[in-house]
Amino acid sequence: MAAVRAVWPVLDARLEAVLALIRAEVHADIGSDHAHLPIRVVQEGRAERCVVVEVNPGPLGHARASVARSGLGERMEVREGNGFDPLGAGEVDSASLTGMGAATILGVLERAGEKLPAALVLQPNDSPLPLRMWARGHGYHLTAERLAAGYWAYPVLRLERRPGLDPAYAGLPLEAALRYGPLLLRGRSPLLLDQVRRDVARLIPLAAPGRPAERELATARSALQVLEAAS
Ligand SMILES: C[S@@+](CC[C@H](N)C(=O)[O-])C[C@H]1O[C@@H](n2cnc3c(N)ncnc32)[C@H](O)[C@@H]1O
Repeated sequence: MAAVRAVWPVLDARLEAVLALIRAEVHADIGSDHAHLPIRVVQEGRAERCVVVEVNPGPLGHARASVARSGLGERMEVREGNGFDPLGAGEVDSASLTGMGAATILGVLERAGEKLPAALVLQPNDSPLPLRMWARGHGYHLTAERLAAGYWAYPVLRLERRPGLDPAYAGLPLEAALRYGPLLLRGRSPLLLDQVRRDVARLIPLAAPGRPAERELATARSALQVLEAAS
């Protein structure tokens, strides 16, 4: 009988950046849709096992079909449900939430309670500022940050539960670090430099005294100072 060839899903730059930040024993991908990311996680040995969580019937069907095609059914399980609901406390040591708005991701994290794992990889489609603020208030440190090129520059954050203040922010202007990312600022990300320069240019004509844009411009300028001082 001819061997069945497993299909390796191709990821775009955004999900490749997420993949590179996952390392776990048991990982959960929440809001997975096609399940391409968790399949690659298992195929590349970045986790021994993966739980795939989907709340909507259409994407749930996509996930089940992809996992079946991958031939990895013994190491992967697709579960229907909302956020961390279909997982047991301590069942996974890492989770990813990607391709959603930061408010949706935040809602899932806030409802997770004791099911929150020690490591999280988050990729919001809009500003990650609320996720960085959540991490600081909930005992997680930022241990890696990336910007992935795509339709726009997608932020990817790896958070790990650790005691004490997050050293990533030490010595940086806090508002700029929360807005643009402390590790991206320290790492002189060229994509970030581009983004901050565009923000400054966009905000200059809007920043009349007392307007919110005035403060945003000050934040962008202090980020630019960090990026340019480092170069
Ligand atoms: C835009 S897709 C992103 C898919 C994939 N994670 C990616 O990055 O390409 C968002 C998916 O999250 C699912 N989703 C949204 N909220 C969810 C929740 N609370 N629990 C589980 N799945 C959720 C949606 O059904 C949808 O399939």
